[in-house]
Amino acid sequence: MYDLPTLEPIRRYKSIAVLTSGGDAPGMNPAIRGVVRTALHHGIKVYGVQRGYSGLINGDIHVLSSKGVSNIVQKGGTFLKSARCSEFHQATIRANAASQLRKLGIEALIVIGGDGSLTGAHLFEEETGLPVIGIPGTIDNDIFGTDDTIGFDTAVNTALNAIDKIRDTADSHERYFLVEVMGRSSGFLAVHVGIAAGAEMIAVPEFAVDVEAISLQLATSKRKGLGSSGIIVVAEGNAPGLTNRIAEQMAHHGHTPYVSILGHIQRGGHPSGHDRVLASCLGAKAVEYLLAGYSDMMVGVNQGQVVDVPLDNLTRYRKGLDPELLKIALQLHK
Ligand code: F6P
Repeated sequence: MYDLPTLEPIRRYKSIAVLTSGGDAPGMNPAIRGVVRTALHHGIKVYGVQRGYSGLINGDIHVLSSKGVSNIVQKGGTFLKSARCSEFHQATIRANAASQLRKLGIEALIVIGGDGSLTGAHLFEEETGLPVIGIPGTIDNDIFGTDDTIGFDTAVNTALNAIDKIRDTADSHERYFLVEVMGRSSGFLAVHVGIAAGAEMIAVPEFAVDVEAISLQLATSKRKGLGSSGIIVVAEGNAPGLTNRIAEQMAHHGHTPYVSILGHIQRGGHPSGHDRVLASCLGAKAVEYLLAGYSDMMVGVNQGQVVDVPLDNLTRYRKGLDPELLKIALQLHK
C-alpha cells in the first residue's frame, strides 16, 4: 500500500456530508465507509447525499450511522447511488445546492468521483466557500495528480478475467479478437489490461488508430509463423462503434477479427483487496485533511505516498499516459 501522512487536527466540524458522483467504481462503498467511520470516531455527524449532485440539488440528504455502513466494504457500486448531473454545471444551481447543506447545518462536503465530479467540487468550493475534499473514484485512472484511483485495479482484473477466457477460443480457433475496454478519452485501462493480458496490440484514444498498420502487422506475424491468433485491446474512445468499425476496415485488408465489447462488467463486481484498502485509507484521510484545515483538494497518490492535490490542478492539467509504459507495451508485442 501507500505511505500515509500524519495529520494534526486544528479545526472542528459538527456535521459533514459525503456523496458519490459520475460513473460508479468498485471501491466507492469502502470509501464511504472510511469517511463515515472516521468522522464518527472524531465525533462528527455524517450525512449521505443520494445520487451525487442531483441529491444535493434536491435535498435528498440523510444521516448515516456506523451500522448503516456495515457489510458494504465488499460490495461493488455505491449504496448512495450515483448520477451524472448536467444541471450542476450552472452556478445558480450550485448555490442552491449549498443552501441545502447549510439548512441542515452541514459544514463541509466530501465528493467521491471522477474528473468531472471533482471539477464540479472545485467550483462549488470556490463559489460557496463550503470546504470540500475530493476522493478519486473512477475505473479510468485518468485524474491528474494521482497515480491511482479507486476502482482501477478491480476493473483491470475484471477485464483480464474476461480476456483470459476469450484467449482460449482465440487460440483454439486461430482467430484474432478485438476486445473493447472502457475509456472514452484515456487509454490507462487499455494499456494496463493490454500488458497484463499479453495483448498483441493496444489501441488508445491518445493516438489515432492505424488500421493498415495493424493489418500489416497481423499478416507479418502470420507469415513469420508467430501465430495466427491473438488479442487486440481497443479503448472505446469517444465515437460509439469504434471497435466494430476497426473490424470492418480490417476486413478490407483480408482479416476477419471477432469483436468482444466488455462494457459495464468493468464497472461492477466486488472491489479488489487493493481497491478496498485504497478506498478505506483515502476515505479516512479525507476526513483527517478536513480536520487539519485543508479544503479544495483531492486526496491523491503520488510516488507511493498519499498526498493532497489542489482541485484547481485538475481543471488546468491533463494526466498523460506514461511513455515508458507505452514503450514496454510495444516491446512486448510479438
Ligand atoms: O468514467 C467511467 C466510464 O466507465 C468510462 O470509462 C466510460 O466511457 C463511461 O464511464 C461510460 O459512462 P456511462 O455508464 O454513463 O455511459
